[in-house]
Amino acid sequence: MKQRGQDKEMMLDVKNLVKEFGGLVANSDISFEMEQGEVLGLIGPNGAGKSTLFNCIAGYYKPTSGTILFEGIDITGWPPHQVTRVGIARTFQGMKMMPNLSVEENVMIGAFCRTNDRQNARREAWEILDFMELNHEAKALPTELPIALQKRIELGRAIATKPKLLMLDEVAAGLNPLETKEIIQILQRIKTERNLTLFLTEHVMEFIMTISERVIVMSAGKKITEGPPVEVARQEKVIEAYLGERYAQGG
Ligand SMILES: Nc1ncnc2c1ncn2[C@@H]1O[C@H](COP(=O)(O)OP(=O)(O)OP(=O)(O)O)[C@@H](O)[C@H]1O
Ligand SMILES: [Mg+2]
Repeated sequence: MKQRGQDKEMMLDVKNLVKEFGGLVANSDISFEMEQGEVLGLIGPNGAGKSTLFNCIAGYYKPTSGTILFEGIDITGWPPHQVTRVGIARTFQGMKMMPNLSVEENVMIGAFCRTNDRQNARREAWEILDFMELNHEAKALPTELPIALQKRIELGRAIATKPKLLMLDEVAAGLNPLETKEIIQILQRIKTERNLTLFLTEHVMEFIMTISERVIVMSAGKKITEGPPVEVARQEKVIEAYLGERYAQGG
């Protein structure tokens, strides 16, 4: 398998990805790589093409052209259930949960991706509910719970598919600063205790800059730069595209 850096394995390799909607180029010639175990952030203004890129990787959109390799396997254009099987899970910007199913059942849906056995799925769901500190809410409906807990349920369902790569689309959106800190701690535990590789989009800068080891910046469908968060945040083109003077000045 292809190598980058010292002896880490390449997990995801996106090459010259293009996604067009009619005349609109939502992803324009995007290339990047991800190493196993890395935490990669994706930032950019509204409409930059972040969710489109996630949707192409996760199989919800078919790329117009380009290639997506996961652990050396060409998964370009694969449907979502196959992408999940190969080890990629994602959460949705708008959160997609089954409103009529309990928290426990929502997490079980993830587990059913790997097992047909109801008892197995329930056992795995409970292990995750414990891990996410959601056991007291197991029998509740997700919509009865605060947003912060709903985000954890979605995360739990994604983890229940036993992914290697977890992609999170705006997982901190709508959370207050304390809840944001809590989700950062949960993600750090997910990464270390479950050995997951994380790819996240977020508008909450404090979140993305704290958790990411490397950041990709997109603007108007194009990748404009990538690098360590501190370096990226200083670049003029990034400040112009997105961050604004306030962040650049550390304010
Ligand atoms: N299914 C679709 N059909 C048509 N156009 C789409 C579709 N999905 C996304 N787009 C367009 O592609 C562009 C990029 O959208 P995308 O949702 O990927 O941006 P984003 O970076 O995730 O923005 P945000 O930060 O607001 O979530 C936008 O102009 C959007 O309107
Ligand atoms: Mg988006």
